[in-house]
Amino acid sequence: MEDPAVKVARLLENSSYAIVFTGAGVSADSGIPTFRGPDGLWRRYRPEELASPWGFERNPRLVWEWYAWRMRIIASARPNAAHYAIAALERRGLVRAVITQNVDGLHQRAGSKNVIELHGNIWRARCTRCGYRWILESPPSDDELPLRCPRCGSLARPDVVWFGEPLPEAALRRAFEEAGKADLVIVVGTSGVVEPAGSIPVHAKERGARLVNVNPEPNRYTGMADVNVEERAAPFFERLARVLGLELPRE
Ligand code: OAD
Ligand code: ZN
Repeated sequence: MEDPAVKVARLLENSSYAIVFTGAGVSADSGIPTFRGPDGLWRRYRPEELASPWGFERNPRLVWEWYAWRMRIIASARPNAAHYAIAALERRGLVRAVITQNVDGLHQRAGSKNVIELHGNIWRARCTRCGYRWILESPPSDDELPLRCPRCGSLARPDVVWFGEPLPEAALRRAFEEAGKADLVIVVGTSGVVEPAGSIPVHAKERGARLVNVNPEPNRYTGMADVNVEERAAPFFERLARVLGLELPRE
């Protein structure tokens, strides 16, 4: 049987506008937990308490502590071969944009430039009163929590999207524009169940794009994908990089 990496390399070389759409699974091989798997965050934590406006109102300190804990995991993690290969594909001109549901910033750390973040970024805080946004250089320590706005002193929150909240408008519009232009979408490591993000690859597919689905488990896209790559992202992208002669940083 032909290695799916060879098949996907060919699809990339024959595409004129390929994009990548990612979820928590692309960072799983970096040691960052996903949300819905057997070890997923939503198995151990309640999303309505930790990732909703209601939960934040009730206990801002608890919510901040949970995000600071996740920031520590992300700070000690490194991008994996999938992030690096996706960045190398963009430099090579074979990928035009990366649309991600992740808040970890690992695509940017790996060198991707055109990254559209649909659910915000865990390294940014935002004032609940004046809207001022700023970057956190390192995870805040628990005794600084909850963070306060440096401008007006009001309560600040993580600049991420919570359940029941709309997505950042500009990012969502750009993502659907990219999906409308794409003739190839490589979906990596997402269950696809969270809307509206999950519909972006479907939108592209409906407009005639080919769909590649990199995921060790069946998901929303399995039935509509042109190629299902049923394995973990890092080993797959390592082979894809080899097939295409892309340089990845050594571990
Ligand atoms: P999920 O946890 O729902 O899905 C992760 C997907 O990654 C699953 O389909 C796994 O099979 C797959 N996976 C696991 N390990 C993998 C690996 N090594 N390589 C490739 N795939 C792997 O995470 P998301 O789809 O990102 O939203 O979830 C979407 C949104 O739900 C998140 O952005 C977050 C969450 O609630 C908000 O916080 C708004
Ligand atoms: Zn403020």
